[in-house]
Amino acid sequence: MTVTASMPAYQYLQLEEKEAVLVVTIRREEKLNAMNNVMMAELTDCFTRIREHSGVRAVVLTGSGKAFMAGADINGYNEFDMGQFFAFQDKGREMYRAIENCTKPVIAAVNGYALGGGFELALACDIIIASDKAKFGLPEVKLGLVPGGGGVQKIARLAGPFVAKELTMTGRFLTAAEGKALLFVGQVAEPERLLETAFALARDIAGQAPLAVQALKKLVDAGRDASLETAQAYDRAYLANLFHSEDAKEGIAAFAEKRPPHFQGK
Ligand code: COA
Repeated sequence: MTVTASMPAYQYLQLEEKEAVLVVTIRREEKLNAMNNVMMAELTDCFTRIREHSGVRAVVLTGSGKAFMAGADINGYNEFDMGQFFAFQDKGREMYRAIENCTKPVIAAVNGYALGGGFELALACDIIIASDKAKFGLPEVKLGLVPGGGGVQKIARLAGPFVAKELTMTGRFLTAAEGKALLFVGQVAEPERLLETAFALARDIAGQAPLAVQALKKLVDAGRDASLETAQAYDRAYLANLFHSEDAKEGIAAFAEKRPPHFQGK
């Protein structure tokens, strides 16, 4: 069964499956794809289901219209009491974790505004490709708040404390080129070529050995906060496991036989 056939009809997500790549498009254009409880639950559900689906080997996550996602639905905050506000924040963290724990690589194709929770959503993905119209920011300070989805600490680790404080204390937006200079954007594309670029990258990764790709996602994430020695011990443990896999046998045989490998994720 295709992954799209196995998924429910979502209110805010459009799914398209092609060549083992699933493209997930967030659609709430009139509110710049600002996220509410329903959208967060849908993203969590979608990425949890993708995890189990062997037909999908890479995912592209993008937004429709002029935003990737303009963060949490601020209007919804008016109606929240403290309990509801924290429940909303918890739901957000669950959504980021569903992407971080998804066994497939997730490429954020950032088409426009990625603000607050929208920037944190991109940072929960594995690779970020940005249109040259993209704008990244953590503007919660303008609401008298701080970001709740892990963005402060991620930016501080990525770009250092000085840049992190400047960005979060002003709420200033970064361009795609600045994102590339700060090393969280991998490639910058013209707006009309963004999806094509992200899809080509996803297809390339989808053609690699799935267990090795899955291991690389885990290794980079787990190694980030470990000592170099510990992180390299993780590398060796995963390598030893992979050596016994069918895919490694196939990759090594294909090299010797001068043919393309046929990986099955086993
Ligand atoms: N929550 C709820 N609605 C939002 C939203 C958000 N985070 N971001 C945008 N919208 C809505 C606007 O209220 C507007 O709705 P309306 O037409 O019913 O008034 C619609 O999306 C279009 O946004 P608009 O502000 O008119 O577009 P713009 O191009 O002038 O400005 C932004 C774009 C992104 C600069 C501006 O919308 C903005 O600052 N949004 C808030 C971003 C933010 O603070 N995110 C973190 C939230 S914790």
